[in-house]
Parts: sequence; structure tokens; C-alpha cells
Amino acid sequence: MISSHINTVISTMGSDPMQDHDIMEKAGEVLRRGGLVAFPTETVYGLGANAMDACAVKKIYVAKGRPSDNPLIVHVGELAAVEGLVESIPEAAVALMKNFFPGPLTLIFKSNGTIPTETTGGRDTVAIRFPSDKLAQRLIKASGVPIAAPSANLSGRPSPTRAEHVISDLSGRVDMIIDGGEATLGLESTIVDVTGEVPLLLRPGSVTAEMIGAVVGRINRYSFTGGEEHEALAPGMKYKHYAPNAPVTLVIGEQDKIAEKIKQLILLNHDKKVGIMSAEETKGKYEALGAEVITLGSINHPETIARSLYAALRELDEKGVEVIFSEGFSEEHLGLAIMNRLKKASGFNIINV
Ligand code: TXA
Ligand code: MG
Repeated sequence: MISSHINTVISTMGSDPMQDHDIMEKAGEVLRRGGLVAFPTETVYGLGANAMDACAVKKIYVAKGRPSDNPLIVHVGELAAVEGLVESIPEAAVALMKNFFPGPLTLIFKSNGTIPTETTGGRDTVAIRFPSDKLAQRLIKASGVPIAAPSANLSGRPSPTRAEHVISDLSGRVDMIIDGGEATLGLESTIVDVTGEVPLLLRPGSVTAEMIGAVVGRINRYSFTGGEEHEALAPGMKYKHYAPNAPVTLVIGEQDKIAEKIKQLILLNHDKKVGIMSAEETKGKYEALGAEVITLGSINHPETIARSLYAALRELDEKGVEVIFSEGFSEEHLGLAIMNRLKKASGFNIINV
């Protein structure tokens, strides 16, 4: 059993090529002998273990405090590794892999049984992702095994986009944390189930529904409001996710009305420490009202909002705010993923103006 007194080695990449090489060799070795290594990817930091080693994978669940029926994504370092893990690669998957691997896309295949049930949460399917992050690729190659990796946060905390987030959640619970700087995208990978006739979007991400539709013609998607059927398909969705300590209220609707409503809410909560998550364009509206305003990014550059969202949630926790009000954004393209995470952070506590 993992207890909370593991000696966690923290290694920072990028200072010297020889040292980087040594860090990668060491991390590969830790993974091969059944240890846990947290590492950066282009989406969020992952907590890796050898996906073929049931014992190692069990340690992930303990370290995160994650329910063991919630399956893990298997990360591979080359396209050719996929076929050894799955029953077959459907036509739609071939097209999606060609367009988006390596990258922030996870595909759910029928498993051929190679990956142990501890990794797949007892399912007959397996989730596979080929990350584009060079450091993640190097680590997978150095380990010589496929790497099972959920986001490297404690269960129920926002996913980590910086090494400091991982250190604050998992220090003393894992063998090694590799600091490779800030994750460039900031939201977890898009998940698409390709086991059915029509690909099914299970989790929106930086590879957008529109991008996938353009490649495969048709894609089914959920409204992502929870519900039993959805839970059965994407077990991770049933657990409370991405939630900061303070309750979040998400305000959606017309942009001007959103700001007006949030101003009202700040005044109504004058006796509390209030946190606001705002776009660059509207932050000025809340100044002078005494709230902690965190700017997520620009409405015209949703990738800036995606990149800073989880860090903002953590920052508001650290500031000890008692309530959080967030602006809602367009749900087109990357906006669907941003709003999916914001809705979950709010526990679907949404005001429509
Ligand atoms: O970007 C990402 O995907 C990051 C980085 C580290 O790669 N990983 C990540 O893992 O977000 P995690 O465990 O936090 O989220 C994986 C989601 C969970 O909701 C899980 O239930 C779902 O993928 N999942 C994994 N295997 C599945 C399967 N066989 N069928 C359906 N859903 C699956
Ligand atoms: Mg996660």
C-alpha cells in the first residue's frame, strides 16, 4: 500500500541536455519497476504507471484517492503501438488517428485483453492516447511500456496544468514529479468512443466536435449534463470533478447581461469574500466592487481561457474566497470544452440571463 510518506523526487527539465537525459532514464526506470511518475503532457499533467503492471496501476488509485472502477487512459509513444492493444481499428478511428495523433485526443477501442483489467476498470474497452508533448513522448520511449495516466491531481481537485499543482496534491504520494513547465492546452484530451457505428464524443477538448465532424462526417454528442446513460459510458463523468472549495455559480446568456448579473451577485454577497472569473474584455466591470477578479483570457482567443482555467480555480481556493461567480462563454469549438469544465466546477449551478 502507498502511504503518505514516499520520498518524492522532483526533477526540473530544460536546464541542461545531459541532465534531462538522466532524468528521463531515471523516470523510465521508476516506471519499469512499478513506480509512479507525474509528467507533463500538452493537455494537463498526468500521473503515470506501467499500464501492463496491475500492481503499479493500483498505486495510482491509492495516490489519487480515485475510485477503482474509473478506467485509465493508456498513453503510447508511437502510432504502431495501438494495434497491439485493441481488437480492431475501425475506419473512423483510422481517419481520426491520421488527423489528430499525436495530440490531445483519446480514442476508446474494444480491448484485445493485453491491457489488464486494473487499468481498464474492468471494462472490455481501452482508452488510448498518443500525446504530442515531446517530453511525454520521451518518457514513454524511455520506459519502454505503455503508460496508464490519469490527470495528476487528487481526486476531486482541478486537473494540474503546472508542476506546482502536482507537487501540492501528490508530494509524498508518488515516486517522481517531472517539472516540464506549463501545459500548453490546459484542458484534458477530447475522448471519442469509436466502438459503435457512429463515433461518440464522451468528453470535449481541444480537438473540437467540429474538427472531428469534418473528418468522420458524423459524430454523436451528449449535452454533458450527467445522467445515467452517460455515466455508464464514461464512468469518470459520474464523480464530482474539477471542483474548487468555494461553491461556483456560472452565469450564462448575453455578454452584457452576464456582467450586470455578476455585479448584482457581488453586491448581494457583500458580507462574503467573493471570487470572480472573468474574460479580459469584461474584467473592468467588476473593479472597485471589492471582489477578487481573476482574468481567464480573451473571448477572442478561447485557447487562453482554456490554458488558465484550472490554475484560476486553484488560485481562488488559495485566496480563500467563499463564493465564486464565473462568466459563461460561447459553446462553439473550444468553447464546448471550456463550458463543460465550468459547468462541472459549478456542479451545474447555472444562472441563465
Ligand atoms: O488529457 C488527458 O486525457 C489527461 C492526460 C494525462 O493524458 N488524462 C486524463 O485522465 O484526463 P483522467 O483519468 O483524468 O480522465 C480519463 C477519463 C475518465 O473520465 C475515464 O472514465 C475515461 O477517461 N475513460 C478511460 N477509459 C475509458 C473507457 N475504456 N471507456 C470509457 N471511458 C474511459
Ligand atoms: Mg482527471
